[in-house]
Amino acid sequence: MCGIVGYLGKKNTKEILLDGLKELEYRGYDSAGIAVLQNNNFSSYKAIGKLVNLQEKTKDFITDSFAVGIGHTRWATHGKPTELNAHPHLGESSYVVHNGIIENYAELKSELEANGVKFLSQTDTEVIVHQFEKNLKTSTSAFEAFETTISELKGAYAVLLVTKGENETIFFAKHGSPMLVGINHEDEKYFASSDTPLIGQATDVNYFEDGDYGFVSKSEIAIFSKDGKRKKPQFSKISTNKLSAQKDGYRFFMEKEIYEQSDVISDTLMGRLGDDEINFDELDPKLFDGINEIKLCACGTSYHSALSATYMFERYAKIRCSVEIASEFRYRKPLMCKDTLFVVISQSGETADTLETLKMAKEAGLKTLVICNVDNSSMVRLSDACILTRAGIEKGVASTKAFATQVTVFWMLSLYVAKLKNSMDSIELARQINLLREVPASTKVTDSMHEKIKRLSKRYLHGHGFFFIGRDIFFPLALEGALKLKEISYLHAEGYPSGEMKHGPIALADPELFTIALLPQHLLHEKSKSNVEELSARDSTICAISAVEFDKADDFIQISTCQDYMLEFFEMMVVVQLLSLEISVRLGNDVDMPRNLAKSVTVE
Ligand code: AGP
Repeated sequence: MCGIVGYLGKKNTKEILLDGLKELEYRGYDSAGIAVLQNNNFSSYKAIGKLVNLQEKTKDFITDSFAVGIGHTRWATHGKPTELNAHPHLGESSYVVHNGIIENYAELKSELEANGVKFLSQTDTEVIVHQFEKNLKTSTSAFEAFETTISELKGAYAVLLVTKGENETIFFAKHGSPMLVGINHEDEKYFASSDTPLIGQATDVNYFEDGDYGFVSKSEIAIFSKDGKRKKPQFSKISTNKLSAQKDGYRFFMEKEIYEQSDVISDTLMGRLGDDEINFDELDPKLFDGINEIKLCACGTSYHSALSATYMFERYAKIRCSVEIASEFRYRKPLMCKDTLFVVISQSGETADTLETLKMAKEAGLKTLVICNVDNSSMVRLSDACILTRAGIEKGVASTKAFATQVTVFWMLSLYVAKLKNSMDSIELARQINLLREVPASTKVTDSMHEKIKRLSKRYLHGHGFFFIGRDIFFPLALEGALKLKEISYLHAEGYPSGEMKHGPIALADPELFTIALLPQHLLHEKSKSNVEELSARDSTICAISAVEFDKADDFIQISTCQDYMLEFFEMMVVVQLLSLEISVRLGNDVDMPRNLAKSVTVE
């Protein structure tokens, strides 16, 4: 998740910007930069890697008089983490920083290039500053040019822009990505993506709403809503607890990341959904030439998303698909055929076992693809192609939004391959794509659902174990739900295909065995119900998760009636994530950093 800071005042602008960016490090980044306008002269510095590199570059840069400045930490979504791609981005006499995704950047960029504009970076962001300077030529003021530019952007953005002609002003716009403005009694103005950089600096803050845009100068704060009407700032006292601010007020990073899923899935989808086709700018369709099988390889939660992908690739793309646990694959001297596309999945891009299998596939001459959340990670650098999940930094050791965005990418990729192989007609493709557009809504956490799960969790704090059961693509979700519970509650849980109960596990059935049963309405519902009845008949305690009532359940968590089982999948995913969270909280465990676990297993 990128971070943005801005400052307008007479203190040490450079230090204020760098300190602000430091407070945003928790959001994760791979490069950073600042631009300062003082006495009508711009100074800009950018560096890849950690902020110390930027501090080193700016050590001789002095800002000792009134200035306006903007700063940015970048989490790569378009274009590699390089200095050229780092923000701020320069036009001719203006700089811009941006958090979010400009969905129509490609068309804006091609129009600008056709008019002779030279782009330095691969980013979507750079179109903003060039579009602004194009509009400046035909506007009566910089603000009018900025207003026109914002109206031409589609997608999610939090933008700060400074321009030489207005050297006491910062222009801002917010839509879909967070940003706020802060003030204090010394008439200084601050901008940031979240309140942590402003704690100790500003006394009062105004959180911008979607569609807000305007400018801040020495003498005024001008905010306009999306209908162009001026609106009064709504200032409130800033919080004083930095850690709570980093968690945006949630109790744990994991909780925050469950709530973030809806928004980050929107980012994952952004710019990739056509009417009846999927667009992956980062993929060359030739990657799939000569490919008759897709082999997926991963560990842990990433293995579960890969397992869910096998159902989609075979069902939608009609291509053979197999999945491997990396630690097993790397030692079993596997057969590797050149008509297999080898796909590794990893949130971190650094998991040792998974990385090793990628090396094996490359040595065997297979084409490789990585689905990853961290650009420039080892796997991204090594593979032939990469699709970024755009989940932003995931701090909770128990993975949630990474899993959600991986499954979303796989759903899109299965449709992408279906189009390439002509294995799905355009009507069904369009239907599937419309379902994908519903996923952000399906993953929104409702207070009522969370409250229900919080209350219910008190009944599941003991017992001799949990079965999570599901059929078809709900089996990988059952595995994921069991892993979430194990990881943070330390209670024993197993994920099982529902149909396996009578092949042994049912011997464990008794009131102290808790079964979390995934009962989608639109996929094998009756079959799944009869499997659960096998357990309830032997007095296992059943918690059913379904859109439709199930009279044999002791507890019932109702999800909404969905158009398709894939939307049920995402709704149930949120339920099992919250259930493990609330059980862990009741047991008093460290939800974000559970015992014995590391966020990235970079050793065997
Ligand atoms: C997930 O909750 C776990 N923390 C763990 O299973 C993790 O998914 C696994 O270690 C793989 O990590 P990766 O996705 O970064 O490769």
